Amino acid sequence: MMKNSVMIVGALAVVLLVACGGGGASDDQVAQGLQEFRRTCATCHGQNGEGMPRLGKELFNNEFVQSKSDAELIAFLKEGRPATHPDNTRGVDMPPKGGNPAITDAQLGLIVAYMRSIQ
Ligand code: HEC
Repeated sequence: MMKNSVMIVGALAVVLLVACGGGGASDDQVAQGLQEFRRTCATCHGQNGEGMPRLGKELFNNEFVQSKSDAELIAFLKEGRPATHPDNTRGVDMPPKGGNPAITDAQLGLIVAYMRSIQ
């Protein structure tokens, strides 16, 4: 029951994000995105996206994030970036979905809203 309502709220958040063209995430969505980020991404990218030596890159003021649309970022997060990928500079895998196969598009949408807030 709880889980369903969380998913519905998440799905609504994505609809809102898309409707606002990505620039209109509310403070609340950004705060939820930070929570999701900490759950799935922070082990490699740091608690606030500051990056970790030899692991995930710094996501503040990040050109890759800035150059992609919300939909492209969600697609990237689902795919990850293997160490063998030509764009990979760290020689370490970014696993698909940050290694959390249960993560939904709605949760990834909130994470994108958080990443936008630190550009
Ligand atoms: C197991 C460690 C790990 C986890 C977990 C992880 N990442 Fe990554 N991430 C990486 C590595 C390694 C790279 C690639 C670095 C490189 O290309 O040199 C990367 C790359 C990225 C990039 C591209 C940055 C750039 O400048 O090219 C973004 C954006 C990103 N991750 C976001 C996320 C988000 C959001 C999550 C959570 C859903 C996440 N990552 C989870 C390790 C991780």
